Amino acid sequence: MSFVDIDDLSIDLGEFSLKGVSLSLERGDYLTIIGPTGAGKTIFLETIVGFWRPDRGRIVLDGRDITTEPPEYRHIGIVYQDYALLPHMTVYRNIAYGLKKHKPENMDEAIRKMARSLHIDHLLHRKPITLSGGEQQRAALARVLIVEPSLLLMDEPFSALDPQTRRRARLLLKEAIGERATTVIHITHDLDDAWALANKLAVFKDGRLLQMGAMDTVFSQPKNRFVAEFVGTGFFSGTVVSRENGCVNIDVEGTCLQSLDRADKGKPVNVAIRCEDIRVSRKKPSVANGFNILNATLKNVIPEGSSSLLDLRVDNLEMNALLTQNAMRRLDARRGDNLYALIRKEHVKIVQDG
Ligand SMILES: Nc1ncnc2c1ncn2[C@@H]1O[C@H](COP(=O)(O)OP(=O)(O)OP(=O)(O)O)[C@@H](O)[C@H]1O
Ligand SMILES: [Mg+2]
Repeated sequence: MSFVDIDDLSIDLGEFSLKGVSLSLERGDYLTIIGPTGAGKTIFLETIVGFWRPDRGRIVLDGRDITTEPPEYRHIGIVYQDYALLPHMTVYRNIAYGLKKHKPENMDEAIRKMARSLHIDHLLHRKPITLSGGEQQRAALARVLIVEPSLLLMDEPFSALDPQTRRRARLLLKEAIGERATTVIHITHDLDDAWALANKLAVFKDGRLLQMGAMDTVFSQPKNRFVAEFVGTGFFSGTVVSRENGCVNIDVEGTCLQSLDRADKGKPVNVAIRCEDIRVSRKKPSVANGFNILNATLKNVIPEGSSSLLDLRVDNLEMNALLTQNAMRRLDARRGDNLYALIRKEHVKIVQDG
């Protein structure tokens, strides 16, 4: 049995339904949920916290079936996008509010300690309206963490913060939960949150959980085209044409890709290639050793902060490669240039249909 066991969670809200979501988390796991708007991410969290009664399914937390338990007994903390601080109370009283049911003996000390760890100890006398977005965010986090919830849920907690404040907030959160090994489910639209904080990733669409797994696995082996596109991984359909020396040759619209994964000859397969795993070179390497070496034409360059996404045409295929700005400078390529795309055979992943 896992620390969190959610089994076949379903709820029909008329225009929208959550359809049989099942997932498990171990204690200390940090799961980020991503998915398009309207996918049911918020409704899923609201069902865990007890805002909605599911029509079917079970939620088990630390061995206790909490599916029908009133929200206040679940010992689950939730941080909303708008923080939901109580406006007429000071930050101190907002944090204390969380403790109103189980006041510890040293409550004052506990509040000050939590405030220090989130760098808001100088703001305890202020009302939320006088705080910046980042300060409100930290106050909301303090109010939730002080009760040491068994499970912490967060619905886009950083979305109102500027990029730098966001980075700092991530660090503070990581330290605060790291000390307590808190189990977290965090909805975000920013994959950087996921890379900075999470060990697991789940993708929702249309009320369904499409895929959940270790961060790396979801990125390198997305189950279907939707998940692949959502995380920016290339996804191609082809056929295994031959097997030799522990490697398979896959024909993808006339391009041969070699993979180290196993598959039978003649089998239609899907292939995933992460954009970080495509190297781009002007020169053809003299030895192919372990690589697929493909002729590529540069169609476009899309700058993305500290890296650039290259649109490549490889025979009949479109592929995206992600290069750091340093690698871009070394490559010194322009639109229309003929280049080589180099992909390690172990980075060509055969994925099961899902
Ligand atoms: N009380 C309700 N009754 C019926 N439908 C609802 C209700 N609340 C939300 N919905 C609908 O359920 C769908 C999922 O909503 P939800 O808020 O969970 O999406 P989300 O994945 O969190 O999206 P976003 O990324 O925009 O926050 C939406 O289409 C929404 O309009
Ligand atoms: Mg939402």
